[in-house]
Amino acid sequence: MKIEGKEYRTIWFENNLVKIIDQTKLPHKFVIKELRTITDAVNAIKKMEVRGAPLIGATAAYGLVLAILKNDDQTFLKKSSEDLINSRPTAINLKWAVDRMMQKLSGVNSDKILEIALKEANEICKEDIKFCENIGLNGLKIIEEIYNKKKDTVNILTHCNAGWLATINWGTATSPIYHAHKKGIPVHVWTDETRPRNQGANLTSYELNEEGVKNTIIADNTGGILMQRGEVDMCIVGTDRTLSNGDVCNKVGTYLKALAAYDNEIPFYVALPSSTIDWNIKDYNEIPIEERSSEELSHIEGLDENGNIKKIQVYPQKSKAMNLAFDVTPAKYVTALITEKGVCDASLAGLKKLFKK
Ligand code: MRU
Repeated sequence: MKIEGKEYRTIWFENNLVKIIDQTKLPHKFVIKELRTITDAVNAIKKMEVRGAPLIGATAAYGLVLAILKNDDQTFLKKSSEDLINSRPTAINLKWAVDRMMQKLSGVNSDKILEIALKEANEICKEDIKFCENIGLNGLKIIEEIYNKKKDTVNILTHCNAGWLATINWGTATSPIYHAHKKGIPVHVWTDETRPRNQGANLTSYELNEEGVKNTIIADNTGGILMQRGEVDMCIVGTDRTLSNGDVCNKVGTYLKALAAYDNEIPFYVALPSSTIDWNIKDYNEIPIEERSSEELSHIEGLDENGNIKKIQVYPQKSKAMNLAFDVTPAKYVTALITEKGVCDASLAGLKKLFKK
């Protein structure tokens, strides 16, 4: 997708380096950062220079390529894969990508290991782009149906950033929106600010602006009243891990939005590629929910009067704060899942119809 009119993807491999768009600097500064080592890749994921479930999976895949470039010994590779998996716990795409890479690389001692690793990492990205594009085409039908009935702008609420910046291209939740916009269907997005890191304001609104999609940033607590006023036609969010029973783990606050949508009979969709499905865990209490530094709550970053990014404290110095990064929306509040293979019920039966496993 575009930034200042130029097409980008979020991550690519060039001259034995991995290049990323540093998302900690957006929306104020557009910086392309080079990752040179496996440690750079692990830190980029931890610090959220790259974030979003599919993108951290892709970064981990390229991280293993960087590891091999330095040292193609199997012990180093195994340690690197563990460091990557442990860098963020909740999004299943991270482990999925590392496991997929390691299936190809474990025990390979030939001088072909680098070539195999790079081919697989590129394939993971190529596949994600295709899957996200298909999610868009499948979700487009839902937006079109609402538009055909309403004959007026379709108002869509989203939470966090499940946009192209969270994937390699297109996004998950945003892909149906971009497809609708390209088709000339009038859409407007209510963008939840998404405290504490403001991914909705800093990333979703930013990328929608760059593509010319109308959007309005709202405080996280505003969605409920907009739904009561009839100003939300549908919700679409992404997910970091969806269980085979349809329970959806996503950025904290998603659950409350789903409850409000349910109470107001507004459809609540979750868009995801199959790499986000966890077929193993059966109970959402077993999902590791990341707890991040309380400083993400107590401090905030913005531009100072000289145009420099500055961090300031907003909470009382003596106050304690707690920062859980994700929550779980039980399947009963999810209208349907939008996947690369089609739209299905948020249930095992629904998922099995699309993914015969
Ligand atoms: O903490 P983040 O910014 O990595 O959280 C991202 C989300 O919660 C997204 O909704 C999710 O990863 C889906 S991305 C297509």
